[in-house]
Amino acid sequence: QFPLPIPPVKTPAMTITNPVTGNPIDYYQIYINRFTQNVYPNKGNAVLVGYDGISPGPTFIIERGRETVVRFINNATMASSIHLHGSYSRAPWDGWAEDVIAPGEFKDYYYPNSQSARFMWYHDHAIEHTAENAYFGQAGGYIIHDPAEDALNLPSGYGQFDIPLILTSKQYKNDGTLFSPASEDDSLFGDVIHVNGQPWPYFNVQPRKYRLRFLDASVSRTFLLYFQRQSGSSAPIPFQVIASDSGLLASPATASKLYISMAERYEVVFDFAPFAGQNITLRNTEDVGEDDDYLHTDKIMRFVVSNTPVTDPSTVPSVLATIDWPTPAGSAVDHHFLFHRSNSQWQINGVVFADVDNRVLANVPRGTVQVWELENSSGGWTHPIHIHLVDFKVLSRTGDRPLYNYETQGLKDVVWLGPGETVKVEAHYAPWDGVYMFHCHNLIHEDHEMMAAFNVTALVD
Ligand code: C2O
Ligand code: CU
Repeated sequence: QFPLPIPPVKTPAMTITNPVTGNPIDYYQIYINRFTQNVYPNKGNAVLVGYDGISPGPTFIIERGRETVVRFINNATMASSIHLHGSYSRAPWDGWAEDVIAPGEFKDYYYPNSQSARFMWYHDHAIEHTAENAYFGQAGGYIIHDPAEDALNLPSGYGQFDIPLILTSKQYKNDGTLFSPASEDDSLFGDVIHVNGQPWPYFNVQPRKYRLRFLDASVSRTFLLYFQRQSGSSAPIPFQVIASDSGLLASPATASKLYISMAERYEVVFDFAPFAGQNITLRNTEDVGEDDDYLHTDKIMRFVVSNTPVTDPSTVPSVLATIDWPTPAGSAVDHHFLFHRSNSQWQINGVVFADVDNRVLANVPRGTVQVWELENSSGGWTHPIHIHLVDFKVLSRTGDRPLYNYETQGLKDVVWLGPGETVKVEAHYAPWDGVYMFHCHNLIHEDHEMMAAFNVTALVD
């Protein structure tokens, strides 16, 4: 039984000056390093590759509007590309899959950080090697906060009452090293669930409210999460969802189960006050027991609630944010994209990313609002669809699952597209021009070409 690790906060190496605006820019350096770590006490070490030689990488905590430059120095043996997922980065710094940093080289990425408060993450995006690179450790958290959010008096203090919970799912060999996703061509579900790099950890909490920032950083595993008492009533305990991919929801959404697919973020306020002296288990019901190897994927972690009463000054206001919804609210479909499999390839509208001449599937005039319809016709497969650059509103979903309250109360950048489902998303294609990627975030599908591009074209005026 091991405690939950909290990734350390990254500090800048120095502050430089933006040559154009004169504003300060915090400059950071990250080495991509191979390292070994004993994950299981009685087995050998796993060999990992991570940012600053840890996994997850260090967490950035940035005040909105403070610009950053991050130099990623590749000391590993495989090419890397870094995408700050959730940021409207300019195209040259967006982690375009073919724009790789060769071993021994570095690249400086510039981030404006001027979007609303949100929990983003940085991860590898190298062409055809994203699954391996992310799985072996290249992923980390990147938090933007702003005065409006700070004023809400939500549970706060990184690592104290504001806790990142980065979920991954992996598979180990008998010697304690990882089974690699490199040779897979459809999925790696994994049977060992990690939180912040530690399998099935525990976390000591006080009987009060906590802000829990969930990120599913798995290669292929989706979750349906719920909290349960370790003994006594087994009923799922309700909680409040306060934020999704693109930041705070308009108002808190009460839920007792939470669907989260790859790359999605949901932030939850959970109140441990009624459970002083008890254990609360975080559990999963999605894809459990589908295979003999998956018998333990129903457990995620345990919260051990202390018996000592505390005062809890934090609150969850009934109004959290004013959302900048894309307007006008549309329903006419501008683009339709079919996610399917043919010729044993994962395709979008019949195109694979390697088809360089045909992979730009949409030209979108900058500043326009568009509705994209995403259709999954690939049998039993789930495809979490991520559109770079934009925050979108999820308008509708057909099929067995409704839209959940936490999907529609805020903006997102990934949507869970389940088997047979069709989803409509609406976004304001701004603020920059450029060619950006959109793709399935099952990283094995992404590497096997279920990725395409759209071109935000300059307004002619
Ligand atoms: Cu989180 Cu294009 O990726
Ligand atoms: Cu997929």
